[in-house]
Amino acid sequence: MGKVYVFDHPLIQHKLTFIRDKNTGTKEFRELVDEVASLMAFEITRDMPLEDIEVETPVSKANAKTLAGKKLGIVPILRAGLGMVDGILKLIPAAKVGHIGLYRDPETLKPIEYYVKLPSDVEERDFILVDPMLATGGSAVEAIHSLKKRGAKSIKFMCLVACPEGVDAIKEEHPDVDIFIAALDEKLNEKGYIVPGLGDAGDRLYGTK
Ligand code: URA
Repeated sequence: MGKVYVFDHPLIQHKLTFIRDKNTGTKEFRELVDEVASLMAFEITRDMPLEDIEVETPVSKANAKTLAGKKLGIVPILRAGLGMVDGILKLIPAAKVGHIGLYRDPETLKPIEYYVKLPSDVEERDFILVDPMLATGGSAVEAIHSLKKRGAKSIKFMCLVACPEGVDAIKEEHPDVDIFIAALDEKLNEKGYIVPGLGDAGDRLYGTK
């Protein structure tokens, strides 16, 4: 069964408070999401494997460490996921970035893919799928299906705020996917917003309404 990790680092929690605040404007909101994405990337890569190499310092030879293992792919779910990409790339600039766009079918209410572009070596990469909000879980579940359908073998899901409904949906449909969040909120309301949440992440990132 997939695990849920809540990143309770004080800096993440502090910045998340201002992200939640309705009085935080678009510019500051975007900057804070970017910073929290960097901090979360720092935490999510904690278990990356290392290998020993030798380098020469100005003083002597040194046994040192370098990253080993698979390369990373970052995949934002459009549109709000885009707000987390640059923050992650600041720490992992060599990662490749794919994109998944989904819309909700007005009749079935199911998420339907309208855009998928991934790095060509999907099977060789560890993926971090990102979206600031994990609400019903419909988009995340479908985006994970999209990645798996194209050969992805290793997927982590990272978001700022989740609610139990979304976490349960991923756990049920994709028990191999671990979930990394900054906060687990109380519930979904009747309009599909996370309570207390932070409102519509896409609108707040891009100043739309
Ligand atoms: N998407 C958002 O942007 N906010 C929510 O609260 C739920 C889904």
